[in-house]
Amino acid sequence: MSNIIINEGYENYKILFEKGEGDKIFFKKKAYIDLSNCAGSLILGHNSSVFKKSLKLYLNKKISNFAHPNTHAINFSKNIKRNFPNFSRIIFCNSGTEAIMKSLRLSKSLNKKNLIVNVTGSWHGSVDKLLFYPNKYLKPQKISDGLSSDDKKKLIYIPYNDIEKSSKILNKFKNDINCIIVEPIQACLPLNNVKKYLKFLEKYCKKNNSTLIFDEIITGIRIRPGSIQRKYNINADITTIGKVLGGGLPIGAIGISEKINKIIKKKNIKVFFGGTFSGNSLSSFIGNETLKFLLKNKKLFSNLNKKCLYFQKNLNQFIKKEEIKAKVYRFDSILRIIFSKREIENRIQRDFFEKKNISNIIKFRQYLLDHKIYYPINGVIFFSNSTSYKNINYVLNHIKVGLKNIFTK
Ligand SMILES: Cc1ncc(COP(=O)(O)O)c(C=O)c1O
Repeated sequence: MSNIIINEGYENYKILFEKGEGDKIFFKKKAYIDLSNCAGSLILGHNSSVFKKSLKLYLNKKISNFAHPNTHAINFSKNIKRNFPNFSRIIFCNSGTEAIMKSLRLSKSLNKKNLIVNVTGSWHGSVDKLLFYPNKYLKPQKISDGLSSDDKKKLIYIPYNDIEKSSKILNKFKNDINCIIVEPIQACLPLNNVKKYLKFLEKYCKKNNSTLIFDEIITGIRIRPGSIQRKYNINADITTIGKVLGGGLPIGAIGISEKINKIIKKKNIKVFFGGTFSGNSLSSFIGNETLKFLLKNKKLFSNLNKKCLYFQKNLNQFIKKEEIKAKVYRFDSILRIIFSKREIENRIQRDFFEKKNISNIIKFRQYLLDHKIYYPINGVIFFSNSTSYKNINYVLNHIKVGLKNIFTK
């Protein structure tokens, strides 16, 4: 089987999930509590009533799919605009990766500047131009074979949440910076003290005529009042969204600000954005029904945040009492356990300090799996509206035993 499926994660599988319901996923009739929820896409949980009702409606209405503009994508875009009032145009894509790839293309078309600035710790999907990792000198190292050395030369890293160092690097390349792309709240280390840094990026881009791309593929819709940029009153030039947007189906989208839209019109810029399934009616319809539900039921977000706070507080108290070298980091409903006793400030530090714990982290994940808990490989924990407190307590109990047995010996 591993010879015919060529995809990350499929090589060493022992478990292949077959179905999901609420906060559980199933393999060979065994139920596992899911701490991933499709990498944060399923904010309502597996096979939610909203999803099932929307799908039934889609079938009953005999909607089908068209590789041509359709009413469902238009209706969807109107509701997306309710959530993101600063979008003056929306481009539908099929994944977050595609949205990022096309955003970079759009940004490149706006001026003749060549450099892409990425922020350490940001993950932007499987995009060739960004499939690099900064070493300790912030020089890009390739993550994959098959990448272009020209792309590597055009990529600059600035350190997340460090205004002074970022400023120095940006000033050095000032005249050549086409865009700065950032995952504003990083799932690999969800920090709460980054508003000033994000504001700094906004100001820098405005002053130096570079494009600010906010990758809100995780934070879009999830974070109230709708995104990080709305929460912090920041105007991103280009925004990418995905995950929750699709209501459980594959999707990505680009939101273009009024400012960029004006430049496009003024310069008569023609960027190719099309694709067979871009704005397809299935993802648009299900995504729209889900979004309408979420916009009507805003309490759901504060309830979800409360669950995550409960998990974080409870576990951090235990960790402190038992002197375990770990800490739960959280931004609203994005959670991650970091396996270090140090206060971690950025991804490079995190990787450095977690490195010596890798074999223990693998043991910990296996321990949880043996106790019917699916702990995602990237370590980012997403609960859903369906995750019950009963199951959170079950997870907490096992995580505590796992941490104590594996990390204090
Ligand atoms: C912040 C961010 N950007 C981009 C992507 C890529 O999205 P996709 O996996 O849908 O291609 C992801 C996926 O995890 C992400 O978390």
